[in-house]
Amino acid sequence: MTSIELSFSGQVALVTGSGRGIGRVVALRLARAGADVIINYHRNQAPAEEVAAQVREMGRRALVVKANLSKVEDVDLLFDALAAEFDGLDIFISNAASGFNRPALQQKVSGWDWTLNVNARAFLFAAQRAAPLMEKRGGGHIVSISSPGSTRVMPDYIAVGASKAALESLTRYLAVELAPKNIVVNAVSPGLVLTDALKHFAVLGDPQVIERAVANTPAGRVVTPEDVAELVAFLCSPAAFMIRGQVIVIDGGFTLIMPR
Ligand SMILES: NC(=O)c1ccc[n+]([C@@H]2O[C@H](COP(=O)([O-])OP(=O)(O)OC[C@H]3O[C@@H](n4cnc5c(N)ncnc54)[C@H](OP(=O)(O)O)[C@@H]3O)[C@@H](O)[C@H]2O)c1
Repeated sequence: MTSIELSFSGQVALVTGSGRGIGRVVALRLARAGADVIINYHRNQAPAEEVAAQVREMGRRALVVKANLSKVEDVDLLFDALAAEFDGLDIFISNAASGFNRPALQQKVSGWDWTLNVNARAFLFAAQRAAPLMEKRGGGHIVSISSPGSTRVMPDYIAVGASKAALESLTRYLAVELAPKNIVVNAVSPGLVLTDALKHFAVLGDPQVIERAVANTPAGRVVTPEDVAELVAFLCSPAAFMIRGQVIVIDGGFTLIMPR
């Protein structure tokens, strides 16, 4: 795929959940464009350290921070570590997500709390910490990573779907409230992307999910992490200044087709 020419030279970017999957590729994309990167992980330290090593090979600074974003104290811990190392923040990508995939009638309070806290609550309280750090730099960019389950119904996805609906709503409110601080806030909603998250569906759910997605995608293939990273990077660039509080779908046209 083609890559647009962007420069984030001298900028500081935080990407949550950036040891693996989409977050990893977003962190590396921002570093390639010149940003220093804060890499956050929860359970898997080794891949996060690998991302940091790659960022440093590009001549950028990298800071790896373990933080379980289901806890507000860990959100604070992440931002304390960031603020101790860097003089402000320019880009915040709220990418980390988790969830209990169960039918509605089997959902438990603990699963609901976990899913909503990681996927939605963490975004609000992270944005509270990000805003003053961005003000120090004269403004900034925030992008949340949502999913089509926010508006559409997917099997066993009720808690994650609700959390993503909350995330998108938070994105709109933050876009308005942070605009006077010159902070641009948007969301990206990718279609099916081949990451570890998908193994869960392929193994436990429908093994044909990927084949069907390709067949039903007008663009002829599923979305890659690189596709998502390119869009995220664009939304963090000056060219996206007038895009505010939007949820940009990147799915190769998958959601355009009405099932027969
Ligand atoms: N893959 C898709 O098809 C798809 C489609 C639409 C939207 N999305 C969205 O894209 C984003 C990335 O998805 P992905 O497919 O790359 O996921 P993934 O491969 O499952 O990776 C999830 C990431 O989130 C981190 N994470 C999970 N729980 C956390 C917690 N409590 N605190 C901090 N970090 C935590 C993980 O860190 P550890 O490795 O340390 O556990 C990991 O880096 C998510 O917001 C997801 O909803 C994905």
